[in-house]
Amino acid sequence: SEVFLNGQFMPAQAAQISVMDRGYLFGDGVYEVIPVYAGKAFLLAGHLARLQRSLDGIDLKNPLDNVSWQTLIQDLIARNQGGDQAVYLQITRGSAPQRDHVFPPAVLPGIFMMSNPLKPIPEHWLKTGIDAITVPDIRWQRCDIKAISLLANCLMKQQAEAAGAQEALLLRAGRLTEGAASNTYVFLDNVLITADTGPEILAGITRELVLQLAEEAGLKVSLRMATEAELHRADEIWVSSSTKELIPVTKLDGKRVGSGSPGPVWQDLFQRFQNKKQ
Ligand code: PDD
Repeated sequence: SEVFLNGQFMPAQAAQISVMDRGYLFGDGVYEVIPVYAGKAFLLAGHLARLQRSLDGIDLKNPLDNVSWQTLIQDLIARNQGGDQAVYLQITRGSAPQRDHVFPPAVLPGIFMMSNPLKPIPEHWLKTGIDAITVPDIRWQRCDIKAISLLANCLMKQQAEAAGAQEALLLRAGRLTEGAASNTYVFLDNVLITADTGPEILAGITRELVLQLAEEAGLKVSLRMATEAELHRADEIWVSSSTKELIPVTKLDGKRVGSGSPGPVWQDLFQRFQNKKQ
């Protein structure tokens, strides 16, 4: 596949960076994952706005304006034969001659983009739902920054994998923040509960759309973290992300969620989601 590295398109095998890059040494960088449907980047404006907020959060200047990003992303998609893809974009603080925690003065940021075919969502995930486990949210206190340092997320996701589950739902002080790589929704007593934006969660672009769809569906929405007790009493639980859209969770910590099947409210929002993709 064709990737973009520091100003040039090239085959993935040809793309190389310095071992002194601060992304490599410190995880000092931010990223985006943008879904592409039928060759068109989905909700791109939202992703570019969040990229700017992430860059502001780590005090790194955006190396490009939005028009340049749009052009580069469209070019990357075309070079990878269009269709359904997932664009990965990252910006690191670049490389300095010495390893020093303090920011180096005047270095060029490192820009990398790749695009891979969007993995189709397994049929049975939609038919029967996925399994999730709860784990303590061991991340830092700036989860609103989409940072490339994802060690905590990897550890928690691996815990889910080892338990035969597809996602880990994160509990901070007895409250549900989000998933290891997704935002989370609890539908209970006819109210949709999802964490408000703030430092404890990543403001998902898919989450914004889900909230818009919930409003269109006339659902009551409560923007707060569900308690652990509410989570375990939920009628429905869902997770959302750019690569997974909106997926029902039907088993939590080995126990049935609600009826044990994908619920009617998920069904309705999922259908509305598909309509938005056209
Ligand atoms: N992750 N929360 C976390 C911790 C995430 O990593 C993600 C997405 C989301 C959902 O955000 P969005 O709807 O904007 O994709 C929430 C991406 C897909 C990833 O790391 O691959």
